[in-house]
Amino acid sequence: MTYKLKLIIGSTRPQRKGPIVARWFLDILENHKHFEVEVLDLKEINLPLLDEPEHPRLQKYTHEHTKKWSKTINEADAYIVVTPEYNYGYPASLKNALDYLSVEWQEKPMAFVSYGGISAGTRAVQDLKLPVTTLGMMPLQQAVNIPFFTQFINEDGVFVGNETLEKSANGMLNKLKVWTKALKAMREETQ
Ligand SMILES: Cc1cc2nc3c(=O)[nH]c(=O)nc-3n(C[C@H](O)[C@H](O)[C@H](O)COP(=O)(O)O)c2cc1C
Repeated sequence: MTYKLKLIIGSTRPQRKGPIVARWFLDILENHKHFEVEVLDLKEINLPLLDEPEHPRLQKYTHEHTKKWSKTINEADAYIVVTPEYNYGYPASLKNALDYLSVEWQEKPMAFVSYGGISAGTRAVQDLKLPVTTLGMMPLQQAVNIPFFTQFINEDGVFVGNETLEKSANGMLNKLKVWTKALKAMREETQ
């Protein structure tokens, strides 16, 4: 059985490093054949600041960009967010992308790949757990947190992870599979 996994790249600024980190992680995902992966780059998706008149739980969307985002998020069985830490939190682009929708996110697992300086982006991940649980998702405790992440980017601009990072990535993905399977069964039973 394969599960639909959406890998969300959270940073959108020029010169961002998010896609470089995501590229490394996508290579690791190659070994996890039970996930069918789609990358959702928030810079490319380019959602405006939330511009829907109704509360998202009503799903009365008026804009094409919201309808498209809703369809994409709804079809997923699981999410992974690749996030930096901005001022001890996560980027506003991510909050905006989360706030657009409601039921589409519910009862699905979300895992995190974070990067930063000494904090390894852990404060951003902790901060993310508040809206993530409010939206009814299951945030995974197992995470990939990359400290002083630029040390892993070589002169060609490629992220080269070490054994410790690869181990945490595989551990997280194994747990994500367990949660994805369990929550999918739960959603199907209660539908
Ligand atoms: C607005 C801003 C705030 C930042 N705040 C933090 C921070 O709180 N903790 C941290 O570890 N790094 C912080 N940094 C450094 C980021 O880890 C680094 O710039 C990283 O490349 C950001 O990810 P991005 O390139 O994908 O945008 C900050 C960077 C920016 C641009």
